[in-house]
Order: sequence, then structure tokens, then C-alpha cells
Amino acid sequence: GAWDIGGHEHYMHKEICEQPDAVDRVLRGRIDDRFATVHLGGLGIDAREARGVRRVKILGCGSAFHAGQIGAQLIEELARIPADAEPASEFRYRNPVVDPDTLYIAVSQSGETYDTLAAVQELKRKGACVLGVVNVVGSAIAREADGGMYVHAGPEVCVVSTKCFTNTAVAFALLALHLGRVRDLSVADGKRIIAGLRRLPAQIAEILSAEEEIKKLAHSYADARSMMFVGRVRGYPVAREASLKLKEVSYVHAEAYPASELKHGPLALIEPDVPSVAIVPDDELLEKNRATLEEIKARHGRILAVAHAPQEAADDTIVVPHNEPELDPVLLGIPLQLLAYHAALALGRDIDKPRNLAKSVTVE
Ligand code: G6P
Repeated sequence: GAWDIGGHEHYMHKEICEQPDAVDRVLRGRIDDRFATVHLGGLGIDAREARGVRRVKILGCGSAFHAGQIGAQLIEELARIPADAEPASEFRYRNPVVDPDTLYIAVSQSGETYDTLAAVQELKRKGACVLGVVNVVGSAIAREADGGMYVHAGPEVCVVSTKCFTNTAVAFALLALHLGRVRDLSVADGKRIIAGLRRLPAQIAEILSAEEEIKKLAHSYADARSMMFVGRVRGYPVAREASLKLKEVSYVHAEAYPASELKHGPLALIEPDVPSVAIVPDDELLEKNRATLEEIKARHGRILAVAHAPQEAADDTIVVPHNEPELDPVLLGIPLQLLAYHAALALGRDIDKPRNLAKSVTVE
């Protein structure tokens, strides 16, 4: 059960290790091989309505917001619908233009985060269609939304989100595939994504089996004064979430930047005790990312790359398995959860209940 910590020292570790099973659960019963799509029974929008969606706006806080950023990219890539994510609080405080052809999606592990719930209520008051991508069944956001999908991560006890973040990203891949297949995504691409989704659980298990190596790296980077996380496009939300994870649990200062933005300011901070973590997937941006590694190296910054093959310019590389390019973000973040965990452990932090933080923030 949720409160049974098993053989683990912390819930965070238990929940990281549960991810192969958790991802298996979010996929279960939803894949339709015949039509190369997925069935999402609770969405409550039919094919015609799905085709009418002109734009997607995703709202959430913290890790849920970052999972939403991955979701927005998946929806743009697979369904070719313009999509973006925004912190729910910013959205509700800026008197947003609510558009009837936009599909709004609220993302929340707990389903009780006040800022996200308030955004949903404001949207509904203005007549918008709002879906929920939520973990806790029957929670406030799940009840308020017009429809949606549960991410089936199971109960998450550690304040810092791990398995729910991953499952939410996978849930968005399912939603993007569904929206894509009622629009212009081909059967062949649908099949390619489905095959990729099915590979995820074993690939996550493979990444987790390198824990000892990641632990050693965590020890060698934990004394950093500050850490810079960089990535491009698909790698950028991964960098943001990894940076948040490290901050939350280890209290090491970290920043995340799109790799191209480094030269517009943060490069001034690079020096030997400010290492960088670079997300370097083997995709169409590989050469650009390699150039970023050189840029950092030239300023004597240490580099830890998370990549599909060892990177020469990096001091260390964590190699993760390839999936389909659209699904790679799901895997690239997994080793960085372990990095944050072991850095926090080495620094003697209160892992499951970091200071000043709460699992769900139900106040304004
Ligand atoms: C709090 C937690 C974060 C979490 C955020 C959103 O700030 O400390 O870890 O990501 O709330 O929570 P939710 O339940 O809405 O996903």
C-alpha cells in the first residue's frame, strides 16, 4: 500500500523505483492497436469536438506545470495544435482572454492545489471547456472539470513529485496521440508512438539499474555552489523539472535555461564550482547542444550530460536509452530524480518533507 515504505529508506526512493509499474498502469486498457490510437473514456469530447480545437492551454503549478510543458510540446508535435503551458496562478491573475475554441487542461497530482482549482473555476464561469489531468481520483479539480483523464500513478507520499510527474507526461502523450489521430497523425506514426510507449517501462527500469553510478555522480556534484540546467525544446522542460527537483530536495541553488539563452546572461555565472547539467538527446538539435557544451567548457564549467551516447565535451555522461524523439523527454528526466535524491541524502536533508514545502498548497 501507499504508506508501506517497503525496503526503502524514503518514500521518494520508493516512488522513483515504482515508475516502471506506474507507467504500465497509465497505459493499461487504453491502447487500440487496430486503429493506432488510444481510448480515453473520461475525456467527454467526441472526434468532431476534438477536431474543432484550435488551441490548447495547459495550467498547473510546480512539477505539474513542467509536465504540462512536456504535454504542450507533445500536443503540438503529434496533433499539430498550437499549445502552451502556463503556471495556473499567473493565468488567473492576469485576466486572460478566454477563447471558446481553446481547450483548457488543468494538471494536478493532488487535484486540490488552490491556484489551479481557482483557474478552473474562473474558466468554467466564462463558459470554457476544461479537462483535468489529475492523479487523485474524485479530487476537487477532477470534480470541477468537464472531463479528463486520471494518470494512475498511485498515491504519492513524498512532497517532491517523481512518479506522478512521469505518469502525467505519459498521460499527455496518450492525449496527444488521441488528438493527433482524429486529425492528421498517420496510422504509421500512431503505431510508432504506441510501440514507443510500450517500451517505456522496461527502459525506465534499465535507467534505474544504473543507480550506483548516478549516486557516485551525485556525491561529486553535491558540493556545487549552484547548478545550471540547460536543454533545448524537448530538453528544456526536462531541465526545468530537474532543476526544481534538485532545489526542492537538496536546497542546492539551481537554475534552468534554454541552452541558447545561456549566452544572453547566465554564461557570466559559469565557473568551476557552478557545474551544468545538459540534456543532450540524439535528435535534430544534437549539434546545437554539442556547441553549448563547448561554450560551457571554454568557461571552465564542469558538465554532466544526460544523453543517448557519451559526450566528449562533458566531464560525465549519464547514458539513457533511445525511444521515439517525441517520447524521449519522459526518459531523460529519470536519472536526474536519482541525482537529486542522492545529492539530498549526501547533504543530510529531510528528503520526504523538505523545509518550507507542502505536498499540496490548498491556500492562496
Ligand atoms: C506543491 C508541491 C509541488 C507540486 C505543486 C503542485 O508546491 O510542493 O511538488 O508540484 O504543489 O501540486 P499538484 O498537486 O497540483 O500537482
